Amino acid sequence: MLIRASLLSSASPQELHFEADGGLVVDGQGTIADAGAFAAVRARHPDLAVEDLRPFWILPGLVDLHAHLPQYEAVAADGLELLAWLERHIFPAEARFSDGAHAQAAARRYLQDALSLGTTTAVLYTTTHAEATDTIFREAEACGIRAVIGKTMMDRHAPEALLEDTATSIKESEVLCRAWHGRDGGRLSYAFTPRFAPCCSSELMAGAGRLARDYGAFIQTHLAENLQELEWVRRLFPEAASYTDVYRRCDLLGPRTLLGHGIHLQPSERRLLRDQGCSLVHCPSSNAFLQSGTMPLRAWLEEGLSVGLGTDVGAGPSLSMFREMGEACTASKLRRAAQHVQSARLREVGGLTEDQRLRLSEALDLDPRPALDAPGAFYLATRGGAMALGLGDRLGALEAGFEADFLVVDVRCSDPFGRVSADPAQVLSRLIYRSDPRLVQAAYVRGRRCFHR
Ligand code: GUN
Ligand code: ZN
Repeated sequence: MLIRASLLSSASPQELHFEADGGLVVDGQGTIADAGAFAAVRARHPDLAVEDLRPFWILPGLVDLHAHLPQYEAVAADGLELLAWLERHIFPAEARFSDGAHAQAAARRYLQDALSLGTTTAVLYTTTHAEATDTIFREAEACGIRAVIGKTMMDRHAPEALLEDTATSIKESEVLCRAWHGRDGGRLSYAFTPRFAPCCSSELMAGAGRLARDYGAFIQTHLAENLQELEWVRRLFPEAASYTDVYRRCDLLGPRTLLGHGIHLQPSERRLLRDQGCSLVHCPSSNAFLQSGTMPLRAWLEEGLSVGLGTDVGAGPSLSMFREMGEACTASKLRRAAQHVQSARLREVGGLTEDQRLRLSEALDLDPRPALDAPGAFYLATRGGAMALGLGDRLGALEAGFEADFLVVDVRCSDPFGRVSADPAQVLSRLIYRSDPRLVQAAYVRGRRCFHR
């Protein structure tokens, strides 16, 4: 198949790659065999039938690195911070996944909606229910999405309906990993999923870490999202040097570890994460919704941390990664604006020496960096996400040899007059700040069409 359309992908965090009249060849194995200017691609493949999709654009499929499928029905439950919100809204929704029919219907709805909004790779938490997790894997297998999925593990500080015995949690996770990790040529993978340190004993976390290493599977958990959570972790693990150190002591850190949020981290924790090759998942809409804070994203990217983007549904209210990209830019701009305001206030405070002023400015992170822009957010949602999954050399771009995970997008939906700007950066900016649910016309994973309008 040779598709003719405009091609937009991310070359680097600063740079877009755009072909106004592009050609994309997908082979029978679901790999991109060729991509570039249409005339050149056509000349290299004169015998292929052309599918002319103009005026639509082709974008790489989007990677949602962190979301909770069972929380979709509880989205936008407003008014509380993390710990109270979990108790009041989330644990009851998750408990309903003991019902197999409910889990199946919820999984179908979630996965179809995610594909329809442009997510072709989803990294998902389920609940503590093994059967529901198996059902969610089966639905992901059937609908064609690329997914990393894990049964949530909790052996303490959870309601009776979700609480597990340590050994059973480890055993059931291993059985699911054996059944699903690497299924369909690696389209589906397993992530050992200790929910977060307050709900897990050290024994449970260490068991998850050991099995993840044995099977080459992923690990996902939450880290340093909320200040009350940090305080709780300090009380529960007095022997640990930091929250990140709790996970290090249980051997949970490595290049296949995805840590959701990571807003409130000390320099030593960031060094540890970088040295271990872990990735942070930035969840800006959730961080705002639960009033958790804003991640110093630009500073940490400069430090060399690996970061991707996640909706964190249900704390994030939408499955749309287009919207999440916009939220990432907005959060970054608000952080920068607040830094400017606070720097000005600090200059007005009397009685401080220059040295004290400098130390205060550093402690409060008042050194403003340029805010995240649309190309930077697009990078995080495509190549950055792929790199966090260790797939940077074959996912997240429209290049020969890459997996044919792509979207057909009607960019006119985001323009107030249905026009198309000649400037691809301007079009991208509209796609993410004015994301429209009709944007995605079709979503392909490995060359298979999984959604079309
Ligand atoms: N920390 C532990 N569990 C959760 C969850 O379900 N959502 C969020 N946002 N943070 C968590
Ligand atoms: Zn989460």
